[in-house]
Amino acid sequence: MILKRILLGISGGIAAYKSAELLRLLVKQGYDVRVVMTLAATRFVTPLTFQALSGYPVHTQLLDESQENAMGHINLARWADVFLIAPASANSIAKFSHGLANDLLSTLYLAAECPVYIAPAMNQAMWHKAVTQENIQHLTQHGVNFIGPEAGSQACGDTGLGRMSEPENIVQELEALNAPKILHGKKILITAGPTREALDPVRYLTNRSSGKMGYALAEQARQLGAEVTLISGPVHLAVIKNVKIHLVESAADMYAAVMREIATQDIMIAAAAVADYTPATLQVEKIKKQGEQTQLNLQRTTDIVASVARLSDRPYTVGFAAETQDLAQYAQDKLQRKNLDMIAANWVGQAEGGFDSDLNALHVYWDNGEKSFKMTDKLQLAKQLLTLIAERLNAESTT
Ligand code: C5P
Repeated sequence: MILKRILLGISGGIAAYKSAELLRLLVKQGYDVRVVMTLAATRFVTPLTFQALSGYPVHTQLLDESQENAMGHINLARWADVFLIAPASANSIAKFSHGLANDLLSTLYLAAECPVYIAPAMNQAMWHKAVTQENIQHLTQHGVNFIGPEAGSQACGDTGLGRMSEPENIVQELEALNAPKILHGKKILITAGPTREALDPVRYLTNRSSGKMGYALAEQARQLGAEVTLISGPVHLAVIKNVKIHLVESAADMYAAVMREIATQDIMIAAAAVADYTPATLQVEKIKKQGEQTQLNLQRTTDIVASVARLSDRPYTVGFAAETQDLAQYAQDKLQRKNLDMIAANWVGQAEGGFDSDLNALHVYWDNGEKSFKMTDKLQLAKQLLTLIAERLNAESTT
């Protein structure tokens, strides 16, 4: 079922300002959104903001004739495919938990028969209070889904759990509901990011990989129903919910982590930019500068994806090829040489896309086939690549 109609409930809290961005993202994704605000919420952000962003009048009153004429509260609850309350204050959560219905938002919660998603936002002490936790447990038992909260600094000056999840994360959570589960039952291992090869206690060799493509693959694979293990080099990206992550530093660490997990995997996607060489010896003390020139003695690392492809009972193995020239030729050569099932090649060092960018384009090759995916954001691209992998996997298991 495609869920298109979202009823967005906004309760009183400073995080209400983030709901404007949340609404903008939902509309951009093609959702039809109607907004309901508590009176306290209207003190933080004006309903006009949400009216302008949603294109519809905002509902604030339970017993208001004009609003009830436009769409009464029961009809509003019936209309929604999903009821998302973001931010949900401790007070709203308590009301939902106890079945109170003394304003429009809490009445809609009682009337709603669709899935309910709640993104709480409150001071960390209020979040940790036993009664709040009991309310959350109670609502969870009744089938309510919670998104967040996240930890960090709070508007009140405290630091801790209680910040509303970032709008992008909330949208991703809802998008997951709509994704067809084409990878259901599949276990996928993904490598991501760069590796760091230590020279001495303070220096290392690395590369410009941001890890964005690997993380996008992990996020999308989870949305498509796979059980995901992510082996990640050092990156500055947020952890992904419901994905098992191993953080590693060097190519040797990444190799060891992959080999520990590989036996049970159906698919491996090597999106990491693994160092090809590592210092032959690790200096225990900081290397002192001397002379105008110096030389580093480097040694080849083990090729992780090629090692996986050599296993007798190997998963469907997909590699990446980042190239600055002769893309097709280098990629096809790697496909053969590393004995891969598929290779996804992309240009790097161009004005747009590639390393550290949110955008990328891919040319994908497999035995007897190829496909191009145009420049788009990496999340979209990850979905396209995973869909192709699922298709190829099905095609190969039926021949
Ligand atoms: O040969 P090249 O490094 O260009 O190959 C890139 C592909 O091989 C990527 O999928 C990368 O993750 C993988 N690789 C690896 N282990 C290495 C080097 C590359 O898994 N040591």
